[in-house]
Amino acid sequence: MSVLWTDGGGGGGGGAAPAAGGRAHLGGASVDVPALSRAVGGVADGGAGAAGLGAESGADEPGAAVTPYYDQDGVTIYHADCRDVLPTLAPASVDLVLTDPPYGVGFKYSDAYDDAAADYREWMLGCFREMQRVGRLTMITTGMRHLWMYPPATWVMCWAHPGSTRASALGGFSEWEPVLVYGKRRIYNDFKYLPHAANISAESGGHPCPKPLRLYHWLILQGSDPGALILDPFLGSGTAARAAKDLGRRCIGIEIEERYCAIAVERLRQMVLPLPA
Ligand SMILES: C[S@@+](CC[C@H](N)C(=O)[O-])C[C@H]1O[C@@H](n2cnc3c(N)ncnc32)[C@H](O)[C@@H]1O
Repeated sequence: MSVLWTDGGGGGGGGAAPAAGGRAHLGGASVDVPALSRAVGGVADGGAGAAGLGAESGADEPGAAVTPYYDQDGVTIYHADCRDVLPTLAPASVDLVLTDPPYGVGFKYSDAYDDAAADYREWMLGCFREMQRVGRLTMITTGMRHLWMYPPATWVMCWAHPGSTRASALGGFSEWEPVLVYGKRRIYNDFKYLPHAANISAESGGHPCPKPLRLYHWLILQGSDPGALILDPFLGSGTAARAAKDLGRRCIGIEIEERYCAIAVERLRQMVLPLPA
């Protein structure tokens, strides 16, 4: 498989990367592009962002790497295991890591990932260390159950969603969720009242556990400036990419399950609608 890191636009300027290792620029970010060993993806979008850049896929020759699944308008999606892609990103090359990792509760996302893995903590901390290395600011929706596995955060933001029927461990309902923040930035507003919308699954093309687009709009506005580079290593249905695009940010998304990559691409192709007030 071959890798192309490109800047498809958004932040301006094209720029292809080497197909088999080296160094490239994704917008403002300088990115190391070594060969990747465990990549699983590679369906070129064929759109303007990837076109003409010599994307190849499918060949497992040593020294080759991952082709973006989608690369257009400042958004690049990799169908890959994020543990393969994260080490290729240069330190502090991303303005905001915004992500929603699997919770390790045995949820059946797909056959591509075992959410019931016994080594969840070790796995999660390995990803966390990489996110910390590449991101200047990190925001993670951890869920409640494994919140305590994460290192102490700089701050905790709150998404309040009264009316939720999600069970708490106390036998009642869980009506809020923490967002752990690592890094320094002046965040004026750390509380979002956003009742669970019944249509979240519909807006995200049927992913089993998407986050609301409006939540990600809020987090991106709080955590980044226009033109910033956002990274979501657990992209799911592409909520972070969609929100980044809506708000004039660039985005790198990584998702291990191809079905969800396809949903993300479909969401990105939809027209940008004006944000709700
Ligand atoms: C909680 S969901 C993210 C949902 C997303 N925030 C949304 O709004 O659609 C976590 C996602 O991580 C993906 N995933 C699990 N392990 C992964 C890995 N090692 N690399 C990349 N993606 C992974 C799962 O397939 C799942 O779609």
